Amino acid sequence: MAYDYIATETQDAVAVITLNRPKALNALCAGLIAELGEALKGFDADPGIGCILITGSEKAFAAGADIKEMKDKTYQEVEAEDFITGDWEILATVRTPTVAAVSGFALGGGCEVAMMADMIVASDTAQFGQPEITIGTIPGSGGTQRLTRAVGKSLAMYMCLTGEFIDAETALRAGLVAKVVPAAELMEEALRIARKIAGMSRPVTRVCKEAVKVALETTLAEGVRFERRTFHATFAFDDRKEGMEAFAAKRKPVWTHR
Ligand code: CAA
Repeated sequence: MAYDYIATETQDAVAVITLNRPKALNALCAGLIAELGEALKGFDADPGIGCILITGSEKAFAAGADIKEMKDKTYQEVEAEDFITGDWEILATVRTPTVAAVSGFALGGGCEVAMMADMIVASDTAQFGQPEITIGTIPGSGGTQRLTRAVGKSLAMYMCLTGEFIDAETALRAGLVAKVVPAAELMEEALRIARKIAGMSRPVTRVCKEAVKVALETTLAEGVRFERRTFHATFAFDDRKEGMEAFAAKRKPVWTHR
């Protein structure tokens, strides 16, 4: 599949999507978002794919929604097209585990897209920010919501109200990213993690991801109940039986993804 704004490849059971609009620091124009959505839906439906890795360039994961594209839009237009909904949310809804490998700028919509992934692995050059306030607007794709859940009120308020960026180490301390590695090692480490996830039983990674996501949407008692019932449900998978039998027999499990 030939794309204008992204590149895709598969490495065994890992799909890699690279945002590829270097002249605009991967600003998320409508065309890029549409292509990203199409690629995500395709890989999510592919039974051979066990993890989707999304990355940008060394300089920018993505510098946000395309400001030049949206600057002349009216309220009536954004309301009518439900701007920044549709394709933007696909990453948050795919069932296959997703990893964002972030180097350089992850700003505005770029930070929001990274936060829609299941985890962020950052290079030590990564900078995260919600600078919408500096252009007279506010985050529109989860920046006030996912960021606040990830880092807490005070840091989210600081980032959204000043527009200042935080570096990778601050993001790590705050819980926004899972891991920080030297820039030169980012893809190697992100791919290692993605391959590891893709090497698990696919239906089990899907329900595991679903259970973790429930934690952000519900009460503790409801979440634990969902987890317990989902744990019970894994006993219907052939791979649950295989995993435990393999452990007892001191051998590696052979998943059938059933
Ligand atoms: N939209 C459109 N074009 C962008 C862009 C964006 N978000 N970010 C960068 N670009 C373009 C620049 O206009 C420039 O294009 P030209 O060469 O044609 O002038 C090119 O990318 C390179 O950018 P800079 O010359 O500005 O590079 P820099 O290294 O000096 O600065 C930067 C980098 C700090 C990231 C700066 O580009 C910047 O501040 N970008 C905007 C960041 C921002 O405000 N993002 C939020 C957007 S709103 C949003 O995302 C809403 C939402 O919640 C969904």
